[in-house]
Amino acid sequence: MKKLSFKLGIVFFLIIFGLETFMFFFLHNALVNSRIEEELSSLQARGNSHRDILAKHFDVNTISHVALMESEAITDVVITDNFGTILGSSFKNNQIQSYLKKPHSRINADGQIVEKDWKKKPYIITISPIGTTNETIGYVYMFQKTASIQSLIERLNQHFSLAGLIALLLTFIVIIILTKALTKPLVKMKEATYQISKGKFSVTLPKTGNDELGELAKSIKLLAQDLNYLKKERNDFLASISHELRTPLTYIKGYSDIVMTRNLTSKDQEKYLQIIVEEANRLSSLIEDLFALAKIDKNTFVIQKQKVLLNDLLKKMELKLSPAFKEKNMSLVVHCPERTYLYADPSRLEQIIINLLDNSIKYSSIGSETLITVTPRKKTTDIIIKDNGKGIPEKDLPNIFNRFYRVEKSRKRSLGGTGLGLAIVQELVYAQGGSINVHSKLNNGTTFTLTFHTNGAEK
Ligand SMILES: Nc1ncnc2c1ncn2[C@@H]1O[C@H](COP(=O)(O)OP(=O)(O)O)[C@@H](O)[C@H]1O
Ligand SMILES: [Mg+2]
Repeated sequence: MKKLSFKLGIVFFLIIFGLETFMFFFLHNALVNSRIEEELSSLQARGNSHRDILAKHFDVNTISHVALMESEAITDVVITDNFGTILGSSFKNNQIQSYLKKPHSRINADGQIVEKDWKKKPYIITISPIGTTNETIGYVYMFQKTASIQSLIERLNQHFSLAGLIALLLTFIVIIILTKALTKPLVKMKEATYQISKGKFSVTLPKTGNDELGELAKSIKLLAQDLNYLKKERNDFLASISHELRTPLTYIKGYSDIVMTRNLTSKDQEKYLQIIVEEANRLSSLIEDLFALAKIDKNTFVIQKQKVLLNDLLKKMELKLSPAFKEKNMSLVVHCPERTYLYADPSRLEQIIINLLDNSIKYSSIGSETLITVTPRKKTTDIIIKDNGKGIPEKDLPNIFNRFYRVEKSRKRSLGGTGLGLAIVQELVYAQGGSINVHSKLNNGTTFTLTFHTNGAEK
């Protein structure tokens, strides 16, 4: 059987049944034993009291009186002399001789049990010696039929069987209810996850309170919401991609047609071919960015953090990027204290800074300056990239990290960005455990602040 409720039920049942059996057995034994003890000690006490009388008056009269008394009771008595000859008995016939065994050891003055096997023997028997400690003159044997004890125990057994049966039944019912109650929400959740896998995200789940099952239900709900969100986001993303790809392709196709079919002057031809090349470049950089994003989204994307000497890295980048700034009559200035370390993946860090500087170049006018300032703190280090370009309108600020988001929706070919640069930057920063903030004032400039941890690198 693979059902959880069944497995749980069996385990519960075995444990409880085992415990119950043990307790019943223990209780039954204790009850029977104490009952037998009681019978034996009261028989002994009765024998001892006869003995006490006989010790004082050991004569025919008293003996027959005692025997007479016992003949009316459920117990019986046999009185013998020191050698075992019967002097008096409450039994009608005297076939009792074979039971009159004396224990081998010295008999205690308080008497002794001669026979206590109530299960097999017809009588339980006690013996009480008559006389002083030094000289015994006779014995009082007390008899009680075991049949009455046996029927008593029989009745006790019947009661126990009935109680056992009821306990078993109750256990069974309780276990069935309990396992059902335990596994029902699980079964519901299993159904819910099945529905989710089929794309039905608005699942209802049982309310099970604040225990582990409740937590599980909450997690499943959250998972459904996340999946729903991801599915929607993926659809939006795909729609944006196809839109973004279609636009340059339309240009390329349109201008190619013109170049091929019309008789153009070589100047016009060059102009159109120029556009085609630009659009092709745009397409290839779009695909490159998409590829970069897809790589980051993959589970296998690895960040290899290490101790990075920041002033070294920034100096190298300054050298590499300065020509691009100069080409537009702009300047790049780096302020970084010597021996500033942080803990990051250097190649990813480079990509982040390149993307940000690329924006500074694209969205600033001739003669502007971009400044990179590094501020080391106790546990973190800030890299601040500040330009005095055209800035970002306040209403656009919250969206600039979204994929394909551009402030100027109408694509100016000269500023042919993909809208993916900052999305890539954000993913890369987060992947390294860092954070990114932006401040911007329209027509004034934009400041991006990157914060990375310095742990793992001493100063
Ligand atoms: N330094 C900046 N100055 C002004 N605007 C910026 C700057 N950086 C980003 N932006 C705005 O944010 C948008 C998103 O940037 P990004 O994701 O890099 O896309 P892209 O550069 O391809 O347009 C840009 O289209 C631009 O409008
Ligand atoms: Mg960009």
